[in-house]
Amino acid sequence: MEIDVSTERAGELGVQALAIPFFKGETADGEFTNQLDETTKNLIRSTVEAEELTGKEGEMVYLYLGANGESQDARPQRLLLIGAGEREEYKAAHASNLAGAAARFLRGKNVKSIGFMPRGGSNGNASDDGASSYISASVEGVILGMFDTDKYRTSDREERSIERLVIIDAGDGEAGREAAQRGRVVGEAVNFARDLANEPGLYMTPTVMAERAQGIADEYKLEIDVLDHERMEAEGMGALLGVARGSVEPAKLIVLKYTPEGYEAKEGAPLLALVGKGLTFDSGGISLKPGENMEQMKYDMCGGAAVLGAMRAIAQIKPSMPVLGVVPSSENMPDARAIKPGDIVRAMNGKTIEVINTDAEGRLILADALGYAKKLGATHLIDLATLTGAVVIALGDVNVAVLGTDQKLINDIIAAGTEVGEKYWQLPLDKEYSKQIKSDIADLKNIGGRKGGTITAAAFLKEFAEDTSWAHLDIAGTAWSDDAKPHRAKGPTGIAVRMLVNLVERYARDGMK
Ligand code: BES
Ligand code: ZN
Ligand code: ZN
Repeated sequence: MEIDVSTERAGELGVQALAIPFFKGETADGEFTNQLDETTKNLIRSTVEAEELTGKEGEMVYLYLGANGESQDARPQRLLLIGAGEREEYKAAHASNLAGAAARFLRGKNVKSIGFMPRGGSNGNASDDGASSYISASVEGVILGMFDTDKYRTSDREERSIERLVIIDAGDGEAGREAAQRGRVVGEAVNFARDLANEPGLYMTPTVMAERAQGIADEYKLEIDVLDHERMEAEGMGALLGVARGSVEPAKLIVLKYTPEGYEAKEGAPLLALVGKGLTFDSGGISLKPGENMEQMKYDMCGGAAVLGAMRAIAQIKPSMPVLGVVPSSENMPDARAIKPGDIVRAMNGKTIEVINTDAEGRLILADALGYAKKLGATHLIDLATLTGAVVIALGDVNVAVLGTDQKLINDIIAAGTEVGEKYWQLPLDKEYSKQIKSDIADLKNIGGRKGGTITAAAFLKEFAEDTSWAHLDIAGTAWSDDAKPHRAKGPTGIAVRMLVNLVERYARDGMK
């Protein structure tokens, strides 16, 4: 998709359709309406007067203005007005959703080129402070809106696409162009993560996941190291290798590192590590899952995919702080050699774990990945995982659960998420919960019973983050969407990529302390 930023008047962009958010309370003869009506020949005024258009969130009014005939008139033929709700509540995250919804709607009309007016900034004119974030979010929204999960269909595929997007910038265009570029980078990174998640386990093995990481490293100049079985054995990663035993696909521990150009780490400089569960298929292992919905377990690598997506964006945005990405990748399969309930494994940090249920494998592979991130010098850890079914019960598909030992990190994650339209909800992690994961014969057991399943999983991980500042995100409910939204297809959501990129940008700007 070609993306332009234009400071031309809305009527002179040479696009087939114009999409414009419309706020509640905008009147038929308001300044904005009048300005636009120079292009649309009073159509908006009459639409508002007829109460066809009220600005209610989610509302869509589509007007076909007619062909332009043979003239070279740059006037758009179609106008899509999208309800944006109250102006005071209109944030960049709304612009993203509206732009995505507009793009999906107009694609359905076989429109190839659209103009979008983000209407950011305090007076709805994209020229003042904060307008850049609306421009970035709009581009991102259109890119996310164009993602489909039909790549393996040979018929009934969505073949239509928006080929050109023009963002209307009321500023001088320069900041707008930079913001649009950032929006493209982030949107493509989210879709990269969604694409990995959408792949079936047959194709998305740990080896392939490592190859995809290699692709990012080559293209965007990141350091990469992929640990194979032998090296993981030498590191003492008995928990990760225990999970991998039941699979013929060799496990990989993928490590990506972004370092700003000319960066020299000062004594005590923070190093943030993003650690993502990359379980490419979770059958449950010997504690086999029921058959119903087992196909969904191809997306048990969404945490890892989010880390790869975030690293891909970070490599292009080039923030002024280093970031480590660590993805333990394995299958969880039942096999004659597979780990069995009752087995004991020893993690890299020396702690012994009694494996009561082989289906609680995510925490096992993360235990060693956290250990390795610490070994590489991480001072702050954020892990992401489709870790528990319990979080789906607790928070549904709306909020990500966040738990951890560093309240500042947790607060920053919640705030960074809110800015990009992702919701994070903190669950408690009192030390009492740790009793549930004490084993009779080893240091720990890998399940804590029915009570507080998401919390006891986090309590388990805490044993491996140890005293390093740490937050854990359980994305089992939010990584996948069962229904399509106006702004996006159903399927993988790419949850957490945008939050992580935003968080890193904030830390690079304001410092981590
Ligand atoms: N990958 C699953 C968690 C999951 C469940 C993700 C549903 C997405 C949707 C994880 O490995 C798992 O199986 N967890 C078990 C833990 C239990 C055995 C303590 C669970 O939540 O049932
Ligand atoms: Zn499992
Ligand atoms: Zn799992």
